[in-house]
Amino acid sequence: MKQYDVRDLSLADQGARRIAWAEREMPVLRQIRERLAKERPFAGVRMAACLHVTTETANLMRTLQDGGAEVVLCASNPLSTQDDVAAALVARDEMPVFAIKGEDNETYYRHITAAIDHRPNVTMDDGADVVSILHGDRREALSDVIGGTEETTTGVIRLRALEAEGKLEYPIVAVNDADTKHLFDNRYGTGQSTIDGIIRATNTLLAGKTFVVCGYGWCSRGIAMRARGMGANVIVTEVDPLRALEALMDGYRVMPMLQAATEADIVVTATGDAHVLDTAHFERMKDGVLIANSGHFNVEINLVGLADMATEVRSVRDFVQEYRLSDGRRINVLGEGRLINLAAAEGHPSAVMDMSFANQALCAEFMIKNHDRLTKSVYSVPREIDRQVAMLKLRAMGVTIDTLTDAQQTYLTSWQSGT
Ligand code: ADE
Repeated sequence: MKQYDVRDLSLADQGARRIAWAEREMPVLRQIRERLAKERPFAGVRMAACLHVTTETANLMRTLQDGGAEVVLCASNPLSTQDDVAAALVARDEMPVFAIKGEDNETYYRHITAAIDHRPNVTMDDGADVVSILHGDRREALSDVIGGTEETTTGVIRLRALEAEGKLEYPIVAVNDADTKHLFDNRYGTGQSTIDGIIRATNTLLAGKTFVVCGYGWCSRGIAMRARGMGANVIVTEVDPLRALEALMDGYRVMPMLQAATEADIVVTATGDAHVLDTAHFERMKDGVLIANSGHFNVEINLVGLADMATEVRSVRDFVQEYRLSDGRRINVLGEGRLINLAAAEGHPSAVMDMSFANQALCAEFMIKNHDRLTKSVYSVPREIDRQVAMLKLRAMGVTIDTLTDAQQTYLTSWQSGT
């Protein structure tokens, strides 16, 4: 295969302009990039990144490259690639990129394999597909790998499962679990970009609609919060009693999905689990309902079951497939059930990816500097990195905060004094 596989190199200029636009909102990553360009901690290190190929990812890739890394990039989802960005990275940065928006599953996996063919020393995953393939069909390539990072909740769940079986072959930092990642990217990023994706796909009005959010993790919280902000009546469905209680006390209606299905105008899944929307729910849904997924994999909506129930499936708009059922009801599936924020919109805004990708760059550096004393486990992001990202972001936003006085610091570490 050639040393890259992208849609159309003539899109490179447009991609370069959009990458530069995103960079304006990524001041933390910019500062890290300036330091890494001087220190070159990644000199001679081969990195394989499997990420959503967006303007923000391009800025991360360029940061790693400036730090000395030989970077190869492939898509972490068949529908999330921005073809102009992929073209710009190839044409301008001479980076091998394997990503085409709308690629089929076979091409998607061929692209991951092409990235593994670069024999990475460090892997950077969003969903753990590179790790999964390295631990399956491509075990021979494990010998070159010294460490990795993982971007998302679903990926971390897969890694912990691998670790629990005693089969994880190298240390990986769970970037998702940094506070400066999931509390911001998952909540404010997914919240805004999911609404953005639904609106771009449908141009629907949210005010006055009944909007069902499946799950109440950090992503779902963000979606529920932003849907409410747009005037929707939000229902949350959950399986975890604590999260359900929290959703209730945050002011949402909470009920089982079978009941919510009858009321919904719009349903979004963000649970990380399979068949959250299933045939029993489709049986009860209203005519014209919109259903979308914002979880990592396209497993949350049982599309095969829906297709079996349908008498006709047709495309009614870009990113909208209408499934007509035998009783005449129409169920509209957005973005083929793939993450709607990246399929129909541009993913999270740059200002929030700034923090996620600052963590990625710093964790890659941590891995390079510390791999020989790490074991084959999933590691948390070091607290200093998390705090550093928060401080840099605050500073970039022009916000200063208080510091404890010595007396306050002493009080916090003492037990003697009470009231
Ligand atoms: N995940 C969600 N939004 C993203 C973005 N804009 N770039 C890369 N990965 C993302």
